[in-house]
Amino acid sequence: YGELAEQGFITEDIKETLMTQINGAYQSEQYAREAAYSNASLAAMQLMIAAKAMGYDTCAKGGFSKEAFIKEFNVSGRYEPVMLISVGKAAKEAHKSNRFDIEEVSDFL
Ligand SMILES: Cc1cc2nc3c(=O)[nH]c(=O)nc-3n(C[C@H](O)[C@H](O)[C@H](O)COP(=O)(O)O)c2cc1C
Repeated sequence: YGELAEQGFITEDIKETLMTQINGAYQSEQYAREAAYSNASLAAMQLMIAAKAMGYDTCAKGGFSKEAFIKEFNVSGRYEPVMLISVGKAAKEAHKSNRFDIEEVSDFL
């Protein structure tokens, strides 16, 4: 937010308000962990959609050893491994699949 304020995109007041709120929220380890998961999930979906638009296929994987991943890739303790996403060209066509109707997973109020 410092850069946003410097560049005139937000006022100093707004910067201070946001930083106070965020620093407060991140005092909670649970909040920080939950935020890591929601933020990473949004980024992951964007990555997968962008990869598909560029002609690549992806697969999300949550079933991996975080400890082994951290050790193998020397991941800093400030990061929380959320999921792995493989990106590449599919070796063969994926099996057909289905999805819930939007009405089953959303409430439009
Ligand atoms: C967050 C997330 C984690 C996943 N983890 C795994 C996994 O560890 N192993 C696996 O075989 N599939 C995993 N999947 C499922 C596959 O990535 C993929 O979504 C699925 O094979 C697509 O098949 P479907 O269209 O039948 O759902 C995961 C999916 C998501 C969204």
